[in-house]
This record gives sequence, structure tokens and C-alpha cells, in this order.
Amino acid sequence: MSDRCKKVYITTPIYYVNDVPHIGHAYTTIIADTLARYSRLKGYETFFLTGTDEHGQKIQEAAQKRGKSPQEYADEISAKFKALWDEFEISYDRFIKTTEEDHKIGVQKAFEVMYQNGDIYKDHYEGYYCVSCETFFTQTNLIEGGFCPDCGKETTLVKEESYFFRLSKYQDKLLKWYEDDENCILPKGKKNEVINFVKQGLNDLSITRTSFDWGIKLPKSMNDPKHVMYVWLDALMNYITALGYGKDEKLMEFWHNTTHLVGKDILRFHAIYWPAFLMSLGLDMPKHIAAHGWWTRNGEKMSKSKGNVVDPKEVADAYGLESFRYFMLREVPFGQDGDFSQKALIDRINSDLGNDLGNLLNRIIGMSGKYSDHYIDSKDVQQFHAKELNSAWEILKNIEQYIYSMQLNRYLEELWKVLTIANQAIAVYEPWNMVKEGKDKEAMALVALVANLLAKVSILLHPVMPKTTQKIASSLGFKIDTKSYIKLYKENSLLEPFTIQKTPALFPKIEKELLEVKSPQEPKKEEQKSDGLITIDQFFQTKLKIGTIIEAKEVKKSDRLLQLKVDLGEDEPRQIIAGIKEYYKPSDLIDTQVCVVSNLKPAKIMGMLSEGMLLAAKDEDGLSLVRPEFKKRSGTPIK
Ligand code: MSP
Repeated sequence: MSDRCKKVYITTPIYYVNDVPHIGHAYTTIIADTLARYSRLKGYETFFLTGTDEHGQKIQEAAQKRGKSPQEYADEISAKFKALWDEFEISYDRFIKTTEEDHKIGVQKAFEVMYQNGDIYKDHYEGYYCVSCETFFTQTNLIEGGFCPDCGKETTLVKEESYFFRLSKYQDKLLKWYEDDENCILPKGKKNEVINFVKQGLNDLSITRTSFDWGIKLPKSMNDPKHVMYVWLDALMNYITALGYGKDEKLMEFWHNTTHLVGKDILRFHAIYWPAFLMSLGLDMPKHIAAHGWWTRNGEKMSKSKGNVVDPKEVADAYGLESFRYFMLREVPFGQDGDFSQKALIDRINSDLGNDLGNLLNRIIGMSGKYSDHYIDSKDVQQFHAKELNSAWEILKNIEQYIYSMQLNRYLEELWKVLTIANQAIAVYEPWNMVKEGKDKEAMALVALVANLLAKVSILLHPVMPKTTQKIASSLGFKIDTKSYIKLYKENSLLEPFTIQKTPALFPKIEKELLEVKSPQEPKKEEQKSDGLITIDQFFQTKLKIGTIIEAKEVKKSDRLLQLKVDLGEDEPRQIIAGIKEYYKPSDLIDTQVCVVSNLKPAKIMGMLSEGMLLAAKDEDGLSLVRPEFKKRSGTPIK
């Protein structure tokens, strides 16, 4: 977000519809929502976009597997994203679906413009493709054995006629943009990675496919019906088609002040391909492309295929949506990865929210009740507490820089410093003793000081915790809106006299973990019996499932390993690298069933991702896989 212009455009990535939403998706969306709310609070006209990415080979294959049409499948999952964002009261202005007609028209128009500008040509593509990442690779990019360097999954060799975008032509222009616009990519460390990547040289980019058809067709003027657009070209264009590009361009005025929120895994597409497309279209560059890190469990990126996802709705239902928002933004520095744990969440709720914030309001209610019948007047605050007011202002006056640089954790840390000033003032001045000594005026000024500090914090905390801060504001007799933002923050004025309203405790203490899905942890020491026996709960921490082997091949250069694809009844089969080559021929394994440890932390074996382990028994006669006596549905739990 930039302060330069009063129209602000904020976007999330559009989410693939092959996966239901998890906290990784919620994180991007909550950051963007916070920025949008902040921008509106400042009085800026704001357009906030989110949506779903519905085309491409990955979606087509996922739909096929479920026996659905791609559109039917996309609509179903897209609706889940929308329902979750609605339940989370995400303040988007448009939810775009890339299968919508106006998006298609805009993408086709953009293709035509880039073609007319001489940036698109027809040739043949030969290289490797990772369907899971929807990304092209050259052989030298791949991990040994033909695996995707980004996700570790198998790639396929693609040879087809393709249209190419002259990405190489934009290498120097991109480097100049990175150099000229200091904050175009945030955080700075990520920007340097992008610059180094571009400096190594850019190849032209294949932007159409012919081997499947679930995508946007080329414009009629190209007269080439067998091609569909590469899904990333189609997807990136959503940022302008949502503003009416190629149709009714009234909203395009928002384009001049754009902030794209993305995860670090998709920064390359946003920081290289997208600006190059925009240059070709003759459109402005985005103001910021901000890349956040991943939420992990046990250090692994969360994803459905790994079975390690945390459901954001479950967390919000158990702990409260606003506490969850605060936790996500406060816990992890922007750009870095963060491991999700209920313990960390509970600590934040009890300490930051319960003690520092909620309890402060209770104390103000309690003290003002005793000293002044709940009436609070700021008239003597400046006289008795200029020092505290100044210290708070020193912090607050510089705080917006943290929003503009996306350092929301720092922003919240700074706000909490103001709460500390307020809490400490109560401890230092001991207003209850002042009253005993007959210094009622001083005691009431202290209460008014603290109420004012809390009011200023609430205004600035509003974009992160909209409902909580509304409650605090109505207790403190003011409304949260642009007028109050200007008065209490920008002009650093004090509250008008008011009578405080009582409210129930905002953040009751949480005594224990509230979710069934425990943070992945080692069993606690006291549970480990000295006799080597384990409890039933410990046994069930290992999730065993029936799997069906659907592919098996030898791992080259290894005399021990086989590379298997095992169906566990999930969206995608798991890849398991098993040390059974001496005992089984790959062809004998196809369609047989095995017992799989399904919640083992994925590991790389000879550069290949292994997402589980097979149970086997080995003695002096050799090794035998453990199998069910009768055929069972893939994914059946073993108990
Ligand atoms: N469809 C593309 C984006 C196209 S934008 C023109 C895509 N979709 S995605 O659903 O796979 O990911 C969407 C966003 O969710 C990305 O920003 C990604 O980084 C984020 N996350 C997915 N898993 C994540 C975590 N475990 N943690 C944090 N964010 C992660 O990519």
C-alpha cells in the first residue's frame, strides 16, 4: 500500500480449486484484508480482490479423478473458499472466478495486444512440466531422476506446438524496474533473490498448451483453436480483468496503486512474468509485490497431499476469529516461515490479548467506577501525564511505516509498547493510593490517560481485530471511523468526556488446548513408561492406512530403492521411496495392497520426496510386505 494516491488496490492470489482452504490460504487473505481495512480507515477508496484459479491441467485431472466435469468441480471448491471468506468477514470487493466470461474476454484481449506488440510468436516447446506447480522446467532445472525442484513431484516431458512470450526481451527492463523502485518487491531479501534469478538470464515463456483443453481459448483473431492459454498467463491476468480490462475499464483507475500479496512459492510468477506481461501491455507496474513465508507443521509446508493441514475454521471456531487473526499477524515476521502450534496461539491469547489488552479495559472500567462513577474526562491528562503522552506519540507517529513495508508483526509490537506504557502507568502511579491521599483529580487524570492510550491503540488495531476494537470503542464512547482516526491518531487529540460502558471480559483465559488435532509433538516425557510400554493414545499417534500401489519403478543408480505411487484415497497418490528392490519386481507390485504409515514426516531420499513408509517384516529368509488379508478401499485406516 502506498500513501501517494487515494485509490488503493489490494489483491490476494487466486486460489487453486484442487484443495480446500487451509491456514496458509487464510494467512494471505487475512494480511490482505488487514491492509484493505487499514486503507479504508484512512479514508482511501479501496478495492480488494480475491478469488479462485480454475483452469489448467491440475484442475482438469483433479476433476476427472472424482468423475466430475472441471466446471462442476471448480464451482464446488470455489464456493468453499467464498463461504469461508464470508464467514471470516473478509472485506473483499470482488471474488473473481477465472471461468467467468468477463475474465475470458479480458485475457483474450491481453493476448491480442501482446501479439500485436510483437511479443508473442509460435514455435515448438520441448521440456518438462510439473502439473502440481503448473510450471515448465528445462532438464538442467530438475532434481536427479526427473523431479520438480519446487515440490519434488515427478515431471512429464512435454513436446508440443506452443506460442511463446518474449520474456527474454524484458530482462533489462525488469532489472531497471527493480533498481528504480526500492519497495517494488518486499521483503528486501526476497527482492534480491528475484534479481539474481533474472540476472542469470530469462528464456522466452511458453504460454499456450495443446495437450488438454481446460483453459481459455486463444482470441478468434488468432484462428488457432487447438491452443489454450497457459494457466499462469490466464491467472495473473485476473488482477486486471477484475477491474474490467478489455471490457468496461472504469475501475482500471485503481490499477495505479496496486499491492499484490503472495506466498514466497509464487513470487517468481508475480515478480518476473507478471511485470513483463504488464510492460508488454503498456500498463503501470504494481507498487508492491509482497511475499510472505509459509505456515508449516514440523517444518514442512502445509498441504493437503501431505495430510498436515490445519483447518482455519476449526481454529477460529475454537479460539475466536479475531484472536486467530492477531496470532497469525503477530507471531511470524513477514517473509519468514512459522510453525503452527496451539501452545503459541494460547500464549498469545492469554498474555497479549487477555492480560495486556482486555484486562486494561477492565481496569479502566473498575477504576473509573470507583473514583468517578464511570465518568472519564481528559481535561487534566496533559497537565499530569505529558511524559506518558509523549512517549506514546513517539511510538505511534512512526508506526505506519511498518504497514507500508508489510511488517505487521512489528506494527503490532509497537502498538503493544503503548499498551505497556498504559499498564505501567497504573502500576507506577497507584491511583488507589492517590484516592486514599485525597488526590482524586490526579487519580482521575491517570484513568483518563490510560483510556486515551487504549483508544489510540484500538483505532490502529482496528484493521487487525475489527470487532474487538469496535467493542472497546463503544465502551470508551467513540466510534471507529476515519474521523476518529484523524482526530485520535493523526492529530493526536484526546477523547471527549464520556461515561464508560461496562463490557464482559474480552479474552477469557484459555486453560488447555481446545482442538482435537494436537500440534505434532513428541510424546511427553511423563507418558513414556519405563517398562517400554506405550499407551493406546501413543499407538494411535501413528496413522496407519491401507494403500494400493498404482505405479512402481526402479530408482536408477540404487540397488535398494523402488519408487512407488500409492493411492491412499486422497486427492493425489503419494510417492513413497521404499527399500524393497531386492525382494520385489516393480511389475509384481502394481495393484497390490500395502500398509502405510501415513503421517510420517516427508523426507527426501536420493533427491526424491518420500511421503510415507510401508510396513514390512524381515528375517533371515528375506523381506515380506505386510498386506491386508482381503482387498480394502484405499485409505482405510488400520486400527
Ligand atoms: N493459483 C495460484 C496463484 C495464482 S495468482 C495469479 C496458486 N494457488 S494456491 O492455492 O496454490 O496458493 C495460493 C496462495 O496460498 C499462495 O500465495 C501460497 O503461497 C499460499 N499458501 C499455500 N500454502 C501455504 C502455506 N502452507 N503457508 C502459507 N501460505 C501458503 O498458487
